[in-house]
Amino acid sequence: MAVTKSLSLFLFVAISCTVAAQAATFNVTNNCNFTVWAAAVPGGGVRLNPNESWSIDVANGTTGGRIWGRTNCTFDNAGRGSCLTGDCDGLLVCNNTYGTPPNTLVEFALNQYNNLDFYDISLVDGFNLPVQLNPTYNCSSVKCAADVIGDCPTQLQAPGGCNNPCTVFNTTEYCCTSGSSGCGPTDYSKYFKEKCPDAYSYPMDDATSTFTCRGGSDYRVVFCP
Ligand SMILES: *[C@@H]1O[C@H](CO)[C@@H](O)[C@H](O)[C@H]1NC(C)=O
Ligand SMILES: *[C@@H]1O[C@H](CO)[C@@H](O)[C@H](O)[C@H]1NC(C)=O
Ligand SMILES: *[C@@H]1O[C@H](CO)[C@@H](O)[C@H](O)[C@H]1NC(C)=O
Ligand SMILES: *[C@@H]1O[C@H](CO)[C@@H](O)[C@H](O)[C@H]1NC(C)=O
Ligand SMILES: *[C@@H]1O[C@H](CO)[C@@H](O)[C@H](O)[C@H]1NC(C)=O
Ligand SMILES: *[C@@H]1O[C@H](CO)[C@@H](O)[C@H](O)[C@H]1NC(C)=O
Ligand SMILES: *[C@@H]1O[C@H](CO)[C@@H](O)[C@H](O)[C@H]1NC(C)=O
Ligand SMILES: *[C@@H]1O[C@H](CO)[C@@H](O)[C@H](O)[C@H]1NC(C)=O
Repeated sequence: MAVTKSLSLFLFVAISCTVAAQAATFNVTNNCNFTVWAAAVPGGGVRLNPNESWSIDVANGTTGGRIWGRTNCTFDNAGRGSCLTGDCDGLLVCNNTYGTPPNTLVEFALNQYNNLDFYDISLVDGFNLPVQLNPTYNCSSVKCAADVIGDCPTQLQAPGGCNNPCTVFNTTEYCCTSGSSGCGPTDYSKYFKEKCPDAYSYPMDDATSTFTCRGGSDYRVVFCP
């Protein structure tokens, strides 16, 4: 594990240094009428007041990229504190981790097979904010902007959001942890799929939730599109 992490870091630094000119730019905009603390891997995190944007350069070939919004945060001058949703170890500048569910997640891998970018919006960590992901190239825009919180099933309700059943119940059925065979939609996952047909509603929801664009595109991410 440690070796893998070091290697990833090495590759990341090497790629960043040698092909910085080939980075894709992710422009993250807070269109909500409240403050959102954006989080990104790679990228870290920033506070975005309404109408503010944040630009992140992501190196060619990056895998495991993700962007999400955090809500109702308080941080001290050193950037330490906490958020109601999406918190990343209490840090303003997230350090290569996942946010605490619930949080609506943008995911991407750049310049993969055939130099294609893969991207999606995932509700596998639940939903906290409406999000849109828009390539600047002429490729599919993905949006999850339905009222997922308002109609959230009682058992999935969480402060500031709606949890995925995997987070709440942690079973192999909801989390697909026993492999893909036998892992399908559930009544709970169908709730998310009905609200946001283009977003991942459970871990193996690939067929209707993964999008591709030719490598080289930039992207816009909008909270509250
Ligand atoms: C990001 O998008 C916003 C909203 O469209 C725009 O005002 C801003 O100039 C963009 N920022 C960059 C760096 O492109
Ligand atoms: C934000 O917008 C919502 C819906 O349009 C509205 O109900 C709410 O009062 C607004 N909040 C603020 C702080 O402007
Ligand atoms: C954000 O921009 C919109 C459209 O330009 C404008 O109507 C709104 O007043 C702005 N909100 C804030 C808080 O500046
Ligand atoms: C979170 O922040 C929003 C917008 O500022 C506010 O309306 C809401 O009451 C806050 N929720 C909690 C639980 O503090
Ligand atoms: C970020 O993570 C790295 C690796 O896990 C760790 O060495 C470093 O101390 C962390 N930084 C902060 C500010 O927590
Ligand atoms: C965008 O792609 C669609 C479908 O591939 C095509 O019909 C449309 O003409 C393209 N638009 C532009 C401006 O290239
Ligand atoms: C979920 O369950 C697995 C075992 O089935 C356990 O290893 C894991 O720690 C659990 N996760 C959480 C977040 O409780
Ligand atoms: C990214 O790198 C791949 C191979 O490493 C290359 O084929 C591709 O042209 C690069 N893409 C961009 C947009 O620079």
